[in-house]
Amino acid sequence: MIYTGLKIKDIFKIYVSFVILATVPAQSFAQDVTTPTSPEIEAIAKELELFVMPRSGPFHPDQIKIENQLAISNWARSGHSDAASESFAHWNAEGEIPPACATCHSGAGFRIFHGLDGSERGPSATPVPTGGVVDCATCHDPGLTSITEVKFPSGLMHPVASTAEASCMTCHQGRASGVQITAAVGTRDADTPDPALNFINPHYAVAAATWLGGYGGAGYHYPAKTYSGRFFHARPVETCVSCHEPHSLEVAQQSCSTCHQDGTPDNIRLSRISYDGSGNLAKGIRSDIAANAERLHGLVIEYSKSIAGTPMVYDGHSFPYFFADANGDGRIDQADGKSVAYKAWTPRLLKAAYNWKLVTSDAGAFAHNPHYALELLYDSIEDIAGPLGQDFASWSLYR
Ligand code: HEC
Ligand code: HEC
Ligand code: HEC
Ligand code: HEC
Ligand code: HEC
Repeated sequence: MIYTGLKIKDIFKIYVSFVILATVPAQSFAQDVTTPTSPEIEAIAKELELFVMPRSGPFHPDQIKIENQLAISNWARSGHSDAASESFAHWNAEGEIPPACATCHSGAGFRIFHGLDGSERGPSATPVPTGGVVDCATCHDPGLTSITEVKFPSGLMHPVASTAEASCMTCHQGRASGVQITAAVGTRDADTPDPALNFINPHYAVAAATWLGGYGGAGYHYPAKTYSGRFFHARPVETCVSCHEPHSLEVAQQSCSTCHQDGTPDNIRLSRISYDGSGNLAKGIRSDIAANAERLHGLVIEYSKSIAGTPMVYDGHSFPYFFADANGDGRIDQADGKSVAYKAWTPRLLKAAYNWKLVTSDAGAFAHNPHYALELLYDSIEDIAGPLGQDFASWSLYR
């Protein structure tokens, strides 16, 4: 590789200048620019095609319109364009992405799913080649305007008001819901382990599912409890792109200060209630959610030991995340060189672990739907504390 000394960002700057050169009509400032056919620039462009720019966009420099420059440079710094991330590179060894995964892990798979390529709507019939990212056309295909609703894992058909919503909601909805938990546990006894039960993973970056709250049904809802619905926030904060710049994906923090005076999002709090029982109202609502999530995690581990009878170890870096530790030495059991997945799930444990994973899978839960996140955590803590003989009331948690 010739340009190993350059950071991607630097290469990108050069790339952008090449784009300018290639797209501005030659006569406009013909005197003061180098000719676009300079061999040096061509070599850089070639390198970029190979190492920086994912195969499915933004296509060749001569196809990029100059007014798109800012969008492109923002997008190129975001996770959506990061062809090397696990989200896109996961299937590189096989060279193709299974249809069930391609909808959200490739722009091409997304277009097939919505029938934007002229195909019947629904997941691709065949695997989709790797190499694609969340490219420009994922959100700018003109056919997106024909999408009026998006189906969620709970079965909910949610009407979408804009093309931005249609795209974000398709991919950031997760892959499971409370419905799957209810079906999996059936009428089994709450505290009897059953090896037929496996962990159900809500999947990742489930922002849209959190945002729709109880109405979206992403969480496991305990009987006789009611759950907050969609977090409407406050006008004009109405869609994902009210807070996230759609290309860099960064949160426009300065826009929060129109209504919140707490500085950074981490410190934002309106609630005059201490949900985590700390009594501290000076910290952001994010901390209450984090504290209750941590408490729930501790109880899940405790329950695995004393009620399910097989201690578990959680490893956030390795699917399916919950592993067996039969001798309780704090280390994951190994068999045939592999970590042994947890197999002593009871219905009560599965519900609590699922809700915990759902809330913690969304790094923005505190802004997407703080009330729903707090309710799921509270109910799970209350439920699992019972058989452990813990004095739930003494923690002064608030729902
Ligand atoms: C085709 C599926 C798809 C669509 C459509 C999509 N995303 Fe994503 N999004 C992803 C994937 C996959 C990742 C993880 C990327 C990675 O890990 O590099 C991601 C990552 C993110 C992140 C994490 C930040 C980062 O840089 O990694 C944010 C925030 C985000 N998306 C917001 C949005 C918003 C807002 C929309 C709608 C305007 C949207 N996404 C549309 C699939 C999608
Ligand atoms: C509904 C959309 C959707 C579907 C369908 C989907 N994913 Fe994902 N997946 C995502 C999003 C969004 C992320 C990005 C999470 C992030 O920000 O890192 C992701 C992340 C991942 C990651 C990276 C996790 C990590 O730890 O970085 C893997 C691996 C993955 N998905 C595997 C799969 C597999 C396998 C399938 C098919 C069986 C699949 N996904 C189907 C939306 C989806
Ligand atoms: C995740 C979805 C998403 C992706 C991917 C995406 N865009 Fe956008 N883009 C949007 C949204 C949403 C808007 C804002 C539309 C609005 O405000 O009505 C937008 C606006 C724009 C605009 C108008 C000016 C601006 O920046 O607001 C341009 C130009 C643009 N996009 C070009 C691109 C190009 C080129 C790419 C690929 C490099 C791209 N977009 C990728 C969602 C996306
Ligand atoms: C009220 C403003 C707001 C709205 C609306 C909003 N978000 Fe967020 N989002 C945030 C904040 C704040 C974070 C936390 C960012 C951080 O701490 O890095 C976040 C985090 C995320 C993340 C995780 C990023 C990461 O680095 O892991 C994703 C993905 C995401 N949002 C997607 C979405 C999607 C999709 C929508 C629409 C369904 C949406 N957001 C709506 C404010 C918002
Ligand atoms: C137009 C005014 C407005 C803007 C702009 C705004 N918010 Fe809000 N925010 C509100 C209102 C009003 C509530 C209370 C809504 C409710 O509880 O139903 C709220 C609630 C919240 C909460 C929950 C606080 C708590 O203690 O319950 C968080 C977190 C939050 N906003 C984050 C953000 C972030 C991050 C941004 C910027 C990306 C933002 N908000 C932008 C008006 C706004």
